[in-house]
Amino acid sequence: MSDKSSNQMWGGRFAAGPDAIMEAINASIGFDQRMAAQDIAGSRAHAAMLAATDIITDNDAEAIREGLLTVLSEIEGGTFQFSTALEDIHMNVEARLKELIGDPAGRLHTGRSRNDQVATDFRLWVRDQLDAFEGGLLALLRALLGQAEAGADWVMPGFTHLQTAQPVSWGHHMMAYVEMFARDLSRVRDARARMNESPLGAAALAGTGFAIDREMTAEALGFDRPMANSLDAVSDRDFALEFLSTASICAMHLSRFAEELVIWSSAQFRFVTLSDRFSTGSSIMPQKKNPDAAELIRAKVGRIFGANVALMMVMKGLPLTYSKDMQEDKEQVFDAADNLMLALAAMEGMVRDMAPNKHALEGAASAGFSTATDLADWLVRETGLPFRDAHHVTGALVAMAEGKGCDLPDLSLEDMQSVHAAITADVFDVLGVHNSVASRTSYGGTAPVRVREQIARWKERLG
Ligand code: ARG
Repeated sequence: MSDKSSNQMWGGRFAAGPDAIMEAINASIGFDQRMAAQDIAGSRAHAAMLAATDIITDNDAEAIREGLLTVLSEIEGGTFQFSTALEDIHMNVEARLKELIGDPAGRLHTGRSRNDQVATDFRLWVRDQLDAFEGGLLALLRALLGQAEAGADWVMPGFTHLQTAQPVSWGHHMMAYVEMFARDLSRVRDARARMNESPLGAAALAGTGFAIDREMTAEALGFDRPMANSLDAVSDRDFALEFLSTASICAMHLSRFAEELVIWSSAQFRFVTLSDRFSTGSSIMPQKKNPDAAELIRAKVGRIFGANVALMMVMKGLPLTYSKDMQEDKEQVFDAADNLMLALAAMEGMVRDMAPNKHALEGAASAGFSTATDLADWLVRETGLPFRDAHHVTGALVAMAEGKGCDLPDLSLEDMQSVHAAITADVFDVLGVHNSVASRTSYGGTAPVRVREQIARWKERLG
């Protein structure tokens, strides 16, 4: 830029340049340069369309195309000089294009505004993130399926209130996360399908009098169609909010699983051993192996959900159409996307590498009177007791075992009959954890036969 006193893009009505503080609060180039590739793709599509509709000449379009490719290679090669005075990625690219090709650069912005330009760039950027999100989820789902299959009939305690409740299979527990992350996947796909419309050509807010072809630019950029209302096209950021809310729900799921891994890898549980590749040591306590990756994944939901709330607050109450407030959308989404992808990759690696401890799982499964419900159900089935009475009898047997310091299967038949005379030796069949788990064959239940059906179903669906 030769004249720094006023802006070369819109300085016509300005006598003076901005205050330094104005420049600092106004500029977005520090972060929106991450959308450089999307910005140039959008400009290329727009220039090609302007030529196809005879709004600019083919020669100008060709000069613009070549110039934009040079700008892209300068940015990718790290030689591009970003300027804060030029505010944002759109004006930085256009100014450099002008230096490279001269006058034709000035025709690129015909029938377009930075308002539809930024909306287009950001949609393209978020769409790429949704695709990466999908890839990360698929990898994690496959890792979980691998764990589920390897331990489909291993038993472990199932918890409510983090108190031992009933024995379940390891495979069933893994498959619970498969269901959760698969719903995240379907949310990602829904969001992508809904957001894949092109704002380009909405211009500043009202559309344009130039005979542009919005179908053509939409198609060139991989959008399904142009957005139908120009005011909406430049003013909504709901696609970014859908990304953030979907990311928040997924991060919440990740945090729950991460918390379980923290608990399970402790010396008190020993349910799993995390690999060295996803653990750290302590600088003072030589015995320590810390589940830092799991802890950090557990924490990521904080900033991701924070980004979701922050952008909701930015957008709420904004009158139509574009307001500069909306420039605050990007950093939140960038940060959330970076951290989500990292968390997904770290979780996938941890799950792939982790070694479940079959013996510790099984030992814990039989502790804590975990088959008490099986005993009560047996009394109902075999002696005809109403469930409430069976519950009471079983409670008395649990208290007896607790008093003797043993588990339910360790009580003798005589002990049991002293509480309820109709109990027979067959009861011992249901007190074993493997039998308990195998008996829960209702649809969605923990029996290995059911779990294997679900594993097969998901393997087929995920390919
Ligand atoms: N840097 C701006 C943003 O991110 C680009 C759009 C500017 N539009 C305008 N009318 N000032 O929102």
